Amino acid sequence: MPDKYFDFIIHGGDYNPDQWIKTKEIWDEDMRLMKLSHVNSATIGIFSWAILEPEEGVYNFGWLDEIMDKAAENGISVILATPSGARPAWMAKKYPEVLRVEESGIRNEYGVRHNHCLTSPIYREKVRNINRKLAERYKNHPALKMWHISNEYSGECHCPLCQQAFRDWIKEYYHNSLDELNDKWWNGFWAHQIDSWDEISSPKFRGENHVSALKLCWKRFVTDSHISFLENEIAPLREITPDIPVTTNMMRMYDGINYQKMAEHLDIISWDNYPAWGTGDYGYVSSETAFVHDTFRSMKEGKPFFMMESTPSIVNWFDINKIPAPGTQTLGAVQAVAYGADSVQYFQWRKARGGHEKYHGAVVDHCGHENNRVFREITKTGEVLEKLGKVTGGRSEAKAAIICDWENIWATKYFCGYNNKHRDYEKECVKWYAPFHKRGITADVISLDADFDKYDVIVAPFLYMLKNDTEEKIIRFVEKGGRFVTTYLFGCVDTDDRCYLGGFPANRLKDVFGVYCEETDSIPESFDRKATYKGKEYSVNHICDVIHTTGAKVLGEYKTDFYAGEPSVTVNDYGKGKAYYVAFRNDGELADDICRDIIGEADIRTDVNFEIPTELTVRKRGDYIFIMNFSDSDKEIVLDKKYKDVLSDSEISGAITIKSLGYSVIE
Ligand code: GAL
Repeated sequence: MPDKYFDFIIHGGDYNPDQWIKTKEIWDEDMRLMKLSHVNSATIGIFSWAILEPEEGVYNFGWLDEIMDKAAENGISVILATPSGARPAWMAKKYPEVLRVEESGIRNEYGVRHNHCLTSPIYREKVRNINRKLAERYKNHPALKMWHISNEYSGECHCPLCQQAFRDWIKEYYHNSLDELNDKWWNGFWAHQIDSWDEISSPKFRGENHVSALKLCWKRFVTDSHISFLENEIAPLREITPDIPVTTNMMRMYDGINYQKMAEHLDIISWDNYPAWGTGDYGYVSSETAFVHDTFRSMKEGKPFFMMESTPSIVNWFDINKIPAPGTQTLGAVQAVAYGADSVQYFQWRKARGGHEKYHGAVVDHCGHENNRVFREITKTGEVLEKLGKVTGGRSEAKAAIICDWENIWATKYFCGYNNKHRDYEKECVKWYAPFHKRGITADVISLDADFDKYDVIVAPFLYMLKNDTEEKIIRFVEKGGRFVTTYLFGCVDTDDRCYLGGFPANRLKDVFGVYCEETDSIPESFDRKATYKGKEYSVNHICDVIHTTGAKVLGEYKTDFYAGEPSVTVNDYGKGKAYYVAFRNDGELADDICRDIIGEADIRTDVNFEIPTELTVRKRGDYIFIMNFSDSDKEIVLDKKYKDVLSDSEISGAITIKSLGYSVIE
């Protein structure tokens, strides 16, 4: 599959013309407004099954033909959705098995969306049929540019069909051996011995919810069910429209599906980006958003991705939906492109008149015309994106990576012990990503399955669970000269959440890091505990390991508690590389200080040759450098040479001012 599908940035969003079928003059007005706002794409049909197939086997494509033709006439690219996210009422009535069963064992009634069983053969067949119809009908349509599979796959079903599929999955996973299963789940504990496969069922509040290996298996199974559901959806599309790429929109760090695994089944990665700008903490929110962009960018080894949704103004589902400062939307769009997106898309094009999302931001408000602030800002964004077409397909090269592994998102939540209140695995990953982001250094965000060898520095915060080959990969990486940084609770368990024996971290990693962990302490919030790194003092927040060195150099020590004087940060020379152990969590500057030093030692260059003032964010993508200001005051930056200012098409050099919530793109 190519790196780029379009020579321009896709600008558009979810469009529901079917909601306006009785007032079709609005369709023509939409076309006019799309062109006016420099919108060039529409995602259609996401939840349209009930209108596409009003009765079983009776199809109604007339409206879609009409709107597809209109789109083509007006130069709008259509991203056509498969409608599986919400099934028609007739289907639920006739085939109750398509409805989802909740953990309680009770089958849901018809309603909402994502309320379907992932295993149901009937539902899968119905999905294949409607997808085949869509593909056959529009395979040669000039507007069709991409398939949008379903919408935000999520949730799980506990019906008898899913239970049986889960048992079959487990049986295969443990090589048809109950002995292996009992051993890996450590079922001697609490009389958990399983004697027959049919004794297994999904984790439940009223049933088994204390076997972490079962919970991990369930997540893996739910991921695989989604993947096979996805493949079932894609099959007719690939057969009939082999050249049209497929994507499905993912949701940030949603922990219900291992996205890093699902990514392999898609041509283009896409995700829905709803930053919490309304909190007012633009510094943190922009860094966290960059982290998520990099997570999705890294899923296909740096290939550009799509930002399939974002809001033109506000959402309707935060507790308090504060309107972000004017300019935030355009800056967020520029940020997405800087970090690897080849699209800026919205939920939603036009506000619905009724329904649950009628107060969710849209390009076209209930007023229905272009004379409003949001429409003007989107138009501005559209103008900017038109000038950035050359950026499409461009990549950013990373010498550093943060490991944020989806299976560890699960594993770090499921074990019981130490600090049960503060786990925050993803937040820890963002914390260790931020120092790279802040310095204009591209960092990939990778899973344990990624290739480690292409990086100079890898930071693996709170890497609690290891896969079978992780130990070997880390050893090879450090031996060959890499710098590997890890923190507390490192290398404790295998993929069944069974502890490694012989002390933590696992096996030979003790030699690599030159330390062993003797105990792990948890710190109540009201306790004031301190540790140092290179003489500077930091608070110990929430959790820390009591470690001892067996060869590592000590870079800091605990100042309080019975382990005062023991090491808090160490580094070990191993092979040609270095292995760092940061034994305590700190919510302040520790990660930044350590990364600053390692970046210097490893001589990782920033992506640019000029200094980046604090509060400005810089990112290089291909030949383009994006400079962004998420702060509330204007900032100056001094360029090292002459560049071309891409947006004004003029030469630029020396000191330039980037306005608050402003940006500049230079070549
Ligand atoms: C997304 C979803 C859209 C819409 C949007 C509202 O998660 O895919 O359909 O509901 O949220 O923010």
